Amino acid sequence: MSAERERWIREKRRRAEERMDTLFAPIYDEHWGSAIDPTHRSMVVKLLSLCPPRPRVLDAACGTGKYWPLLLGSGCSILGTDQSAGMLTRASEKLPDVPVRKVGLQELDYEGEFDAVICVDAMENVFPEDWPLVLSNFRRALVPGGYLYLTVELAEDEELAAAYEAGVRMGLPLVEGEHPFVFDPREEEPVEGGYHYYPAIPRVREWTREAGFEIVEEAEGDGYHHLIARSF
Ligand SMILES: C[S@@+](CC[C@H](N)C(=O)[O-])C[C@H]1O[C@@H](n2cnc3c(N)ncnc32)[C@H](O)[C@@H]1O
Repeated sequence: MSAERERWIREKRRRAEERMDTLFAPIYDEHWGSAIDPTHRSMVVKLLSLCPPRPRVLDAACGTGKYWPLLLGSGCSILGTDQSAGMLTRASEKLPDVPVRKVGLQELDYEGEFDAVICVDAMENVFPEDWPLVLSNFRRALVPGGYLYLTVELAEDEELAAAYEAGVRMGLPLVEGEHPFVFDPREEEPVEGGYHYYPAIPRVREWTREAGFEIVEEAEGDGYHHLIARSF
């Protein structure tokens, strides 16, 4: 990786955490925190049906703990992790008995502690270089034969191509599939702000298998590709 891209990635990640703490944590629940989309719900239910009774679940990038009532209602014990202290504070205000830890997906260091890992609506924040690391962190956190549920946000090819072209024009060290812009109709050029990466689904399958998983269930719905995989 070039030094320029490394610096750019580091700065993007720092700003993502800051934006989550200051802009999104105070309003997340109001906009996105309550209703679980039907495909997401059915995948969580499927995941739980594969786990032993009273499973230990790592909710990685848990945000404000949107899935905790569903998980607790199914007898799970939960650890919630996120890189945003602001989001974790919101989660703990609602369900103070659920333990949380401020730690990034890239820094997760658990070994064989969980029957399931869920990572919902968060992998779009992970840079392509970090996908193998994050998946291997999930794999290591699981008991052998444990299950992972993750979502991959979907985007229109045309929009991604436009974002890539605009980024290259602006001299950003972009990789195809990355979208670092806010399209503001008042501006002639797109404005850099935020970050999402939309990998091709075959690439996601390949990374998942390479990290030591067998994919057992896939679905598409509510703007995401959904995947459940079993560790081996
Ligand atoms: C859209 S929210 C989703 C939260 C929750 N999983 C849900 O479904 O409501 C994305 C979350 O991912 C977290 N996040 C983004 N990048 C992360 C990273 N590299 N490590 C840990 N958390 C991250 C954000 O702080 C945010 O809380």
